[in-house]
Amino acid sequence: MTILVTGGTGTLGKLVVPQLTAAGYDVRVLSRRGGVNADGVEHVQGDLLKADGLDLTEIDTVVHLAGGAKGDALAATNLVRAAAAAGVRHLVHISVIGADKMPIGYFREKLGAEQAVRESGVPWTILRAAQFNSLMYMLAQKLGGMPVVPAPGGLRFQPVDERDVADRIAELALGEPAGAVPDLAGPTVYTLRELVDGYLRTQGKRRPHLPIRLPGKVGRAYRGAENLTLVGATIGKHTWDDYLAEKAGSRVRT
Ligand SMILES: NC(=O)c1ccc[n+]([C@@H]2O[C@H](COP(=O)([O-])OP(=O)(O)OC[C@H]3O[C@@H](n4cnc5c(N)ncnc54)[C@H](OP(=O)(O)O)[C@@H]3O)[C@@H](O)[C@H]2O)c1
Repeated sequence: MTILVTGGTGTLGKLVVPQLTAAGYDVRVLSRRGGVNADGVEHVQGDLLKADGLDLTEIDTVVHLAGGAKGDALAATNLVRAAAAAGVRHLVHISVIGADKMPIGYFREKLGAEQAVRESGVPWTILRAAQFNSLMYMLAQKLGGMPVVPAPGGLRFQPVDERDVADRIAELALGEPAGAVPDLAGPTVYTLRELVDGYLRTQGKRRPHLPIRLPGKVGRAYRGAENLTLVGATIGKHTWDDYLAEKAGSRVRT
């Protein structure tokens, strides 16, 4: 049986694809830039925003991991239409914690994508995850590179390791359609300041912080923890501190 992984060349997708081939499945990866075919992995080029490259014949399961800064609702709408027409048996979708609550374009798009999946007529599973360690690391690097680090009060995250998300996505893809499964978050809730300070420590640096207040409804949503799942989440096993230590180790070795 063949599993289609959209976005299988991305941060998460690259970790999911080998798990599916290891379980004995053929995997077709869809992305705009494509990739190099390997044992059990066929790359096809296509653009979900243009409904391009969406021949889903002989696809049993679709694992939808492609995403970007804009247009995720349209991408999902195009994908689910093709999946329904092809008689796909199971559609697995990655979303983000706070999709239904955060007043930010990216989150609204993720909610629109969820709705497209729910209404597709294809049996589905949706997993909402917290921000990945790699994303928070990039943010910490960027903020930590500034002479004074802005520290918005009340802004908190529960970063989850993409390896934990990949394990869960693979498990869900190999199982039966399960609907909305419990959110997946990291083991610890951090303020943005704590995340940046943790990164700076691994660089042997310190920076002054400038407390600021995020204005408007976005500020209120963050202060109200609408981007977090504090109760009932599945908790990943890799910590932010582990991730920082690994990154610092690889920096020393190279
Ligand atoms: N990163 C996080 O913290 C986080 C947290 C929660 C949920 N998520 C969700 O998890 C998913 C994967 O995130 P990621 O960090 O692995 O993303 P990523 O590294 O940016 O990878 C995105 C993947 O999607 C493909 N893609 C993007 N636009 C496409 C399009 N229009 N048509 C076809 N393929 C397209 C990209 O390949 P090409 O560029 O070659 O097309 C790439 O393979 C996304 O849906 C994201 O919203 C991420």
